[in-house]
Amino acid sequence: MAEVAHLDSVAPPRHVAIIMDGNGRWANARGLHRTQGHAAGEPALFDVVHGALDLGIEWLTVYTFSTENWSRDEYEVSFLMDFNVDLLERRRNELDDLGVRVKFMGDLSDERIPPVLLERIADAEELTKDNTRMTMVFAFNYGGRTEIIDAVRAIAEKVAAGAVEPAAIDAHTLAGHLYLPDMPDPDLVIRTSGEQRTSNYLLWEAAYSEYVFTPVLWPDFDRHELARCVQEYQERERRFGGAIDGSLEGGGG
Ligand code: IPE
Ligand code: IPE
Ligand code: MG
Repeated sequence: MAEVAHLDSVAPPRHVAIIMDGNGRWANARGLHRTQGHAAGEPALFDVVHGALDLGIEWLTVYTFSTENWSRDEYEVSFLMDFNVDLLERRRNELDDLGVRVKFMGDLSDERIPPVLLERIADAEELTKDNTRMTMVFAFNYGGRTEIIDAVRAIAEKVAAGAVEPAAIDAHTLAGHLYLPDMPDPDLVIRTSGEQRTSNYLLWEAAYSEYVFTPVLWPDFDRHELARCVQEYQERERRFGGAIDGSLEGGGG
């Protein structure tokens, strides 16, 4: 009984980050091209947006393209670029109407990104910038190592200019130079498709995140699966390096 009361009191995660994986396998299993798997991932994503709003999640970050995904064949890469342009054009008003603020995180200075996509990104961010119900972050051309390298470079420049003392650099300094310094660390990271690795996602930010891995392929994921993953999160006990609180263990410990 006490355990149930404890679970009920666990707050929903404030920030959920998702590695949307398995589109290619979903398509292959149906005799379709991999790109059709990406297209099939769109309704899953928007169902998850609705689910996240219902659950009161404040930040939803989705991995849409990694710094390593450029290694895929040219057709798939160019499909993904066009798909992002198309999705932002078709969906930005809907996201705005839902009260969602859109943000992109990643290396947007990369010359391989089509200029029209950069324009659509700027349009969507501008249109939704005053929304407060939820922030949806698209991790696009994102890599955790590149993000940390970029932060280190920016700090090194300040050190070289005499504006920062090396001995004063701490975790707070580094976090303040990441792509979105105001983004809270993710509480929960979900990866679909059964793979159990980070693939360079939120390396700094996810230091103490809970991970939930589900075998569901991304196009089959929906708000119900999201709620199930959130429930699994709420059954965990986060410790942040501390010891188990003996009072929860009936005096043991
Ligand atoms: C995730 O699905 C989407 C992107 C990486 C853009 P995948 O395309 O990686 O699908 P699988 O892992 O090959 O099944
Ligand atoms: C991670 O998935 C990137 C995205 C979901 C956008 P990948 O499919 O690229 O990762 P690996 O290659 O399986 O590690
Ligand atoms: Mg994959």
